[in-house]
Amino acid sequence: MYTEHTILSLRSHIQQWRRAGEYIALVPTMGNLHAGHLALVEQARKLADRVVVTVFVNPAQFGAGEDFLSYPRTLEQDTHLLMQSEVDLMFVPEVEELYPGGVNSGTYVDVPDLSETLCGVSRPGHFRGVATVVTKLFNCVQPDIALFGEKDYQQLLVIRKMTAELCLPIEIIAVPTVREADGLALSSRNAYLTDEQRRLAPLLYQALQLCRKQILSGERNYGALVSQVASDLRSAGFEPDYIEVRRADNLAEPTIDTQKLVILVAARLGQTRLIDNINFSL
Ligand code: PAF
Repeated sequence: MYTEHTILSLRSHIQQWRRAGEYIALVPTMGNLHAGHLALVEQARKLADRVVVTVFVNPAQFGAGEDFLSYPRTLEQDTHLLMQSEVDLMFVPEVEELYPGGVNSGTYVDVPDLSETLCGVSRPGHFRGVATVVTKLFNCVQPDIALFGEKDYQQLLVIRKMTAELCLPIEIIAVPTVREADGLALSSRNAYLTDEQRRLAPLLYQALQLCRKQILSGERNYGALVSQVASDLRSAGFEPDYIEVRRADNLAEPTIDTQKLVILVAARLGQTRLIDNINFSL
């Protein structure tokens, strides 16, 4: 596996592969890799000749007071895992390499509306940071396909919309969420949970499953349903940020006739903000 830190050296590999007519997959990550990331890599391996994984903790997607400085950085372990997964190239740029114009003062990419709802309300600027870095990574690697986890459902839709509206010739592939045996969605931030919080954390997925069950049994008063579930989560020790039933294709409010739904939740357990979602058809 090659490890590259500059766009110039990354491109020399990409050019060779392109000349050989090879099909290239990109898996963007912020490192601290777990089985969720490895599922993206495994899927990429199946679909492409070459797999590029980027490891970059993107300052532009963290707000003031968020965990940019303390975000777990485990490059040695990540390198080992990516070598084992037969990745062709790991791209690990410095901040200045990707943000030559400055993190907050340079050119950016904004996907309006979709970025301002749900997580965008409590994390203003977050999706602008994601859309900007993913556009940069797309331009650096120029992959045929790029893979993202369904765990970050809103991020996935923001990236799909951005790719379509900027006419980028890249297919976005969604990979299902990988869960612990008790249902907790894998996330680097799970490491912040205390033992007691870790014990409670699976209740979030159970709440989503309960909502889905009620909707599949005919419940159509989504507002009342999610208020009840939010109140149950509060009693269990969570501080819910939102729990919402939305259209699965664009996160708009559903009507009673909407067939494809997603239920999304974000809640704090102590200092840790957890997100999860479940999508299904009626
Ligand atoms: O999902 C993530 O890890 C990040 O938001 C991403 C897509 C790598 C952009 O920094």
